[in-house]
Amino acid sequence: MNPKLGLGFILLLLLCYSIESKCRKGCDLALASYYVWQDANLTFIAEVMQSRILKSSDFDTILRYNPQLPSKDKLSSFIRINIPFPCDCIEGQFLGHFFNFNVRSQNTYTVVADTYYAKLTTIPSLMYFNNYSEFNIPDNGKLNVSVNCSCGDSSVSKDYGLFMTYPLQPNDTLNSIANQTNVTQELLQRYNVGFNFSRGTGVVYIPTKDADGSYRPLKSSTGIAGGAIAGISIAAVAVALLLAVLIYVGFYRKKKEKGAILLSASPQLSPRILHVTGSNTPVNATGSQGLTGITVDKSVEFSYEELAKATDDFSLANKIGEGGFGTVYYAELRGEKAAIKKMDVQDSKEFFAELKVLTHVHHLNLVRLIGYCVEGSLFVVYEYIENGNLSQHLRGSGKDPLTWSTRVQIALDSARGLEYIHEHTVPVYIHRDIKSANILIDKNFRGKVADFGLAKLTKVGSASLLTRLVGTFGYMSPEYAQYGDVSPKLDVFAFGVVLYELISAKEAIVKANDSSAESRGLIALFENVLNQPDPGEDLRKLVDPRLGEDYPLDSVRKVTQLAKACTHENPQMRPSMRSIVVALMTLSSSTEDWDVGSFYENKALVNLMSGR
Ligand SMILES: *[C@@H]1O[C@H](CO)[C@@H](O)[C@H](O)[C@H]1NC(C)=O
Ligand SMILES: *[C@@H]1O[C@H](CO)[C@@H](O)[C@H](O)[C@H]1NC(C)=O
Ligand SMILES: *[C@@H]1O[C@H](CO)[C@@H](O)[C@H](O)[C@H]1NC(C)=O
Ligand SMILES: *[C@@H]1O[C@H](CO)[C@@H](O)[C@H](O)[C@H]1NC(C)=O
Ligand SMILES: *[C@@H]1O[C@H](CO)[C@@H](O)[C@H](O)[C@H]1NC(C)=O
Ligand SMILES: *[C@@H]1O[C@H](CO)[C@@H](O)[C@H](O)[C@H]1NC(C)=O
Ligand SMILES: *[C@@H]1O[C@H](CO)[C@@H](O)[C@H](O)[C@H]1NC(C)=O
Ligand SMILES: *[C@@H]1O[C@H](CO)[C@@H](O)[C@H](O)[C@H]1NC(C)=O
Repeated sequence: MNPKLGLGFILLLLLCYSIESKCRKGCDLALASYYVWQDANLTFIAEVMQSRILKSSDFDTILRYNPQLPSKDKLSSFIRINIPFPCDCIEGQFLGHFFNFNVRSQNTYTVVADTYYAKLTTIPSLMYFNNYSEFNIPDNGKLNVSVNCSCGDSSVSKDYGLFMTYPLQPNDTLNSIANQTNVTQELLQRYNVGFNFSRGTGVVYIPTKDADGSYRPLKSSTGIAGGAIAGISIAAVAVALLLAVLIYVGFYRKKKEKGAILLSASPQLSPRILHVTGSNTPVNATGSQGLTGITVDKSVEFSYEELAKATDDFSLANKIGEGGFGTVYYAELRGEKAAIKKMDVQDSKEFFAELKVLTHVHHLNLVRLIGYCVEGSLFVVYEYIENGNLSQHLRGSGKDPLTWSTRVQIALDSARGLEYIHEHTVPVYIHRDIKSANILIDKNFRGKVADFGLAKLTKVGSASLLTRLVGTFGYMSPEYAQYGDVSPKLDVFAFGVVLYELISAKEAIVKANDSSAESRGLIALFENVLNQPDPGEDLRKLVDPRLGEDYPLDSVRKVTQLAKACTHENPQMRPSMRSIVVALMTLSSSTEDWDVGSFYENKALVNLMSGR
């Protein structure tokens, strides 16, 4: 037989097998390991985790499974407690249980999954089983929350028939879990085949003791029906997928490589990127090597002399801005436009490693750091963005007002840039100084986040700056301003303020125009209106007058809700950048048809052509 046909046949067999056989039957009990978040109490936990086993406010049952808890009224945060729940076979597809969650006002999938259900469920599964889009979950609605479970696996051991669904925390390891649960590492790994216990997310299944303090043996029927077959079918899917990927990669890679080279060689598609590599590329490193930036490490370091020449000796005429970290100059460097920031830090040598990492972070929605210079002061060199910053577009004179759909697009662009540094770079970054002045606008009116990574530089840099808060009034989250608590949620907070700015074009702190009134935060201004029973008319009054009537109120309302969720006082209640991106994507696809007229059609075409 033709080998490809043979492979295809095996694949088909595997797929058929995996589609057919999942679970047949669940078991009557599983335990959920609930990581108690700040401000949670047993009343709340018993309510969200209620099932046919645990009734709401049945604290005795919870206490039976948690002998370590002193009483129902004393619950410390950041510990794990065990919650019993039934383990059902759901539609023959997987072992789990559906909890019913009564939506409180302004809940998002992130809050429900990560906080209220303590990562026992996932955001994708909430989206899958509930057809509301995030930030559009009706208050007082119900959500279908699935939590997975296990009933055991007779091929591993018949001694264990009760399992804990355990969401991994960032500092968990196979060793630490084995030590806490008194289950050997080997057994843990066999019940969670191929699972990396150090990855910090996802759930694992751990054999656990019943309320009477002893292990429940596996009931003969459930084990086979549940764990074993589910395990086999998952393995089959994995093998099939792997094969499919291998084949796909094999067939496709050559084509794609050619395409990529063509793309990067086309000058129109990357006009704003300064080709620093070009001038330093050795003559013999042509072809694909030159294009992939083999010489980047060498060329990112500039001499002071070169930068001074490019900025006309850092002349006043070349000065284009004064940021939180230093002064910015316009430069013409090796025949290209660039922006050079002279940082106010003393000992620049320490930043070497950090800067090298930063020059390797590339994303369409991040202003690219091209290079640096550490002679005397510290200088960082950025790609030059033509069109100024968002603050200037919203409030500066001499700029046309941004249309509503452009504003949504800029919000989405900056959210994408932030999501990238929060979740996809190694190491991850927290920006710490998100504000409209740090969101640059390119000539296609797309947003790019500037200055990320700099907070870290100044913090490492000088002792006198160690205690200084980096950030800007009006954008600082309460936990950061008060306690210096740093987490990605402080960027989310500041991003929420930027959203309010996009709607209203007002400053983050609204100056009183008559001397008797006090200055007020933009957040307070919006929340006053949002707390009214029907904010429609007053919300319209907050919308940037330069938009006239050219905006869909519904879309404005949704961005307002998003901004409100972002600026929640409790950082745990704020959505992640990832779910903000999802929400804005939905919104932006629905507001796209709003602006008519040839100008916007052209702009859409430009975006399309530049592959965005
Ligand atoms: C329990 O926590 C919920 C949610 O945080 C809160 O709304 C409720 O007031 C708390 N109840 C008690 C008795 O503390
Ligand atoms: C539960 O398991 C199914 C099948 O393995 C998986 O697709 C799903 O993402 C899991 N859900 C949760 C909430 O972990
Ligand atoms: C969810 O699905 C139900 C029925 O399939 C439908 O009636 C309802 O409109 C949907 N809701 C949303 C928000 O799409
Ligand atoms: C939750 O979703 C599952 C799967 O679609 C469905 O079988 C179940 O009835 C839903 N439960 C509720 C309460 O909507
Ligand atoms: C993980 O961190 C929590 C607090 O954040 C702490 O209580 C726990 O002991 C830590 N676990 C390990 C294994 O270090
Ligand atoms: C395991 O726990 C014991 C105490 O229960 C402790 O002495 C030991 O250091 C722990 N081992 C590891 C590797 O964490
Ligand atoms: C751990 O397990 C061993 C045997 O499996 C037992 O002797 C020991 O008492 C257990 N320790 C705890 C703390 O449960
Ligand atoms: C498991 O994940 C951790 C953290 O992501 C990583 O450092 C480690 O190398 C991984 N281990 C394996 C065996 O993949």
